[in-house]
Amino acid sequence: MTTVYDCSVIELSKHHSDRKGNLSVVENDISVPFDVKRTYYLYDVPGGESRGGHAHKGLHQLIVAVSGSFSVTLDDGSIKRTYILNRPYQGLLVVPGIWRTLDDFSSGAVCMVLASEGYTEDDYIRTYEDFIKFKRDKIK
Ligand code: TYD
Repeated sequence: MTTVYDCSVIELSKHHSDRKGNLSVVENDISVPFDVKRTYYLYDVPGGESRGGHAHKGLHQLIVAVSGSFSVTLDDGSIKRTYILNRPYQGLLVVPGIWRTLDDFSSGAVCMVLASEGYTEDDYIRTYEDFIKFKRDKIK
């Protein structure tokens, strides 16, 4: 059974040029411990709004604040951990079976998510009650 301790912030490469700015890379087999099959991003999230509020059964994700900042609260059913993401060269790795909520979006924040699988609604656990049941079934 996965816990919040299986999730962590990883450093991505950062190529810096004094006059031309920065470039960071995410590459399969080098920067992330899964193959990236899908990328999506959240933007124009109004201040005070919250995103997420679900868990995934099998999906691995890397969450990157490519612009601005927001917070991500991870919950494994017993322990909660909140991360403030505000560096485009860092990413939060989230393993399957973790309830996540994203909030405190700054103006102009862009949340990029790299995912290990394509989109399927079947992989979502949409209610907290179902999430707790899912976690209980895993330890049986
Ligand atoms: P959802 O994952 O519920 O958003 P969030 O957790 O950020 O609040 O997705 C919102 C909508 O977008 C939902 O109707 C499904 C759709 N969607 C896709 O079609 N493909 C995708 O890859 C994702 C992530 C969402």
